[in-house]
Amino acid sequence: MIEVCRLDELPPGEVAVVKTAHRRIAVFNADGELYAVDDRCTHQEAYLSDGWLEGCLVECPLHSASFDLRTGRPTGPPATGPVRVYAVEVRDGVVHVDAGTVSSGSSG
Ligand code: FES
Repeated sequence: MIEVCRLDELPPGEVAVVKTAHRRIAVFNADGELYAVDDRCTHQEAYLSDGWLEGCLVECPLHSASFDLRTGRPTGPPATGPVRVYAVEVRDGVVHVDAGTVSSGSSG
């Protein structure tokens, strides 16, 4: 588990970014629900944490592909591949991400 930030530092509509040795993970607070995904768009080089959050969707700042934070799947072009989704947990008021629990976004 990777510590991200205190829950009160991540209010609804905000995003926090945590970096590991191999990846950047963006943790979004979408109307009170926390979601963690790879911070890199699967289309080209852009950080989803720089994009716009609307409900459970985040829109890439570069070419406007939207990703569903629940599944990681893009809702339409130009992105075609899903971003990885990670488990999020709040323990003692601190947000944690399990970078070892990865969903490819292909289930369901
Ligand atoms: S880089 Fe994200 S849609 Fe193109």
